[in-house]
Amino acid sequence: MNTESPVSRRAALCGIVVALAVPSGLVTACSSGSTGSSGSAPTQGGSTGSTGSAGTALVALADVPEGGGALVDGPGGKKIVVARISASEVKAYDATCTHQGAIVAEPAGGTITCPSHGSQFGAADGSVKKGPATTGLRAVAVRVSGDQVVLA
Ligand code: FES
Repeated sequence: MNTESPVSRRAALCGIVVALAVPSGLVTACSSGSTGSSGSAPTQGGSTGSTGSAGTALVALADVPEGGGALVDGPGGKKIVVARISASEVKAYDATCTHQGAIVAEPAGGTITCPSHGSQFGAADGSVKKGPATTGLRAVAVRVSGDQVVLA
């Protein structure tokens, strides 16, 4: 008893210590590991991919004159042309001209003009008003949120 007792006590104590230490270490490692890798990385990646667009402020509404518009940087540095159709209505398009890829100019008088070869697009719907472009500008969904034009 006397010889086995200290050994079994040590073994028992070590077992308890190990039993207490290992699970807590694993729990800590697992929780921080799963939170750090699967929690934030994919969420942020997903957010950036899908939401990176939605809700992103493009320009202050005050900087988009009614009947005109503004050329702004969208997510990823992509140029977006924002047209203010009325006091409360805005439209936006990928500013890449569908003819040969030049960046169109800011809307003026309801028309978006490409400086390269003179194609013209309607500010209200992006449709071709004058060639050489044969395809309208690609619409970008936007909405007015407070005093900002944001991606929808
Ligand atoms: S690139 Fe715009 S009209 Fe040619």
